[in-house]
Amino acid sequence: MKSEKIPQNLPRHIAFIMDGNGRWAKKRFLPRKAGHREGVKTMRRIVDECFKIGIPYLTVYAFSTENKNRPQDEVKALFNLMEEYFTEFLNELLEKNICVRTMGDTSYFPETLRNIIADAIEKSASCTGGTLNIALNYGSRDEILRAVNVAVKNGAVLDSDAFSRLLYTSDLPDPDLVVRTGGESRLSNFMLYQCAYSELFFTKTLWPDFNKTLLYEILNDYSARERRFGKVKP
Ligand code: IPE
Ligand code: IPE
Ligand code: MG
Repeated sequence: MKSEKIPQNLPRHIAFIMDGNGRWAKKRFLPRKAGHREGVKTMRRIVDECFKIGIPYLTVYAFSTENKNRPQDEVKALFNLMEEYFTEFLNELLEKNICVRTMGDTSYFPETLRNIIADAIEKSASCTGGTLNIALNYGSRDEILRAVNVAVKNGAVLDSDAFSRLLYTSDLPDPDLVVRTGGESRLSNFMLYQCAYSELFFTKTLWPDFNKTLLYEILNDYSARERRFGKVKP
């Protein structure tokens, strides 16, 4: 049996690229949206487990700037799922003292969905038990360009800290660990600035199949890595 021991050296911030929902559904002759629904269930379980063992910051990539170019019925199904998630699980998040926030440009989302998201962010803003950052219509290039445009407009010459403060993640630590499920070894426009020194973990497991055992395996792998940040081992 694989070890579910919690390693001592846990990441402070894990970012999940939750990929593989569509293939999970296809394997079962189900519509892609059934995979997304299963993916939300997995997200709830994994987010819960991470906070339970004391990881304070989580980011989940739920919808990229490029995902809106998918067939409109899939985009609509994703919006419906987001609406359900924020409505049904807000109380659970509040009970667990979890602060939920988003990153990305949600301005073109349907108004009801925007209001539901804004309500969840507002109600959970003072929660201190963990931070769940959900990337919605997020793209790293879009984020960086927005920051550059603000800097240019202000005529400011920025250092790296000042630039970081113009990103959606201004008040979050950089991810220590990025986990991508679904078998692709790429970042797909995700946190390109913030992941400069993140540890990366790619697994073939499709996101709906991701579970606690694999999470612990990844955490143990992470804890054995040596992060040098360009320096030499002391
Ligand atoms: C990830 O799963 C979820 C989103 C991108 C919204 P996919 O929908 O990309 O699933 P695959 O990669 O097609 O299997
Ligand atoms: C990345 O997955 C985006 C999310 C998980 C939300 P994609 O399925 O969109 O990425 P590509 O197309 O395989 O690069
Ligand atoms: Mg995909």
